[in-house]
Amino acid sequence: MIKLAPSILSADFGNLLSDVQKVAAAGVEYLHIDVMDGHFVPNLTIGSGVVKALRPHTDLVFDVHLMVENPERYIEDFVRAGADIITVHAEATVHLHRVVEQIKAAGVKAGVALNPATPLDAIKYVIEDLDLILLMTVNPGFAGQKFIASVVPKIEILAKHLDKYQLHAEIAVDGGIGAETAPVVVKAGANVLVAGSAIFGASDPVEAVQRIRSLGEGARLHSVN
Ligand code: DX5
Ligand code: ZN
Repeated sequence: MIKLAPSILSADFGNLLSDVQKVAAAGVEYLHIDVMDGHFVPNLTIGSGVVKALRPHTDLVFDVHLMVENPERYIEDFVRAGADIITVHAEATVHLHRVVEQIKAAGVKAGVALNPATPLDAIKYVIEDLDLILLMTVNPGFAGQKFIASVVPKIEILAKHLDKYQLHAEIAVDGGIGAETAPVVVKAGANVLVAGSAIFGASDPVEAVQRIRSLGEGARLHSVN
């Protein structure tokens, strides 16, 4: 089964809770929360305060994507605020193994994200400890960018590797995911689809969720048969 993770970066921040409730009612599995620090990526977004404010209003799994340098400074903050999964960038810390351990010790699931140009080797020695691997299909920093197709073989190689060694990590993809690209990434082996503008930018986000899910599921069933 694939999981959908709408990214609130493309939600209406003035009506954030109502947008979150919309996608929750559409049956999405994760809520993807993009945290940017203006250093690791050029943009600035939200901090743990927004996570904390949303937490009492929904049971959705909070999937926090930290696009920040030295993410080890913020792990406990986001756990206290209500994160369920915390994903850090391999490029953003020199102590990746330590941060992964820190996330798990704080009691939540651990993910590592890789920019499009970062090889899979960057996670070679932590892969067994990961719950989620986030392959960026755009360069992180902004919503609404064009999907980078050269990441597709990377998804395939990772999916084969996880299968071969029977590792349990989910493969998430993030950036330019929508009705056109969902089947491509699912066929390659992704099972968590992060989508911002394709969901919150649609005139009917509920319909967009259903459409992306059914196109993704169709590609999955096709590739297992
Ligand atoms: C990009 C963020 C994404 C972004 C995706 O840096 O990590 O989660 O919100 O937006 P879309 O789906 O519009 O490419
Ligand atoms: Zn993201």
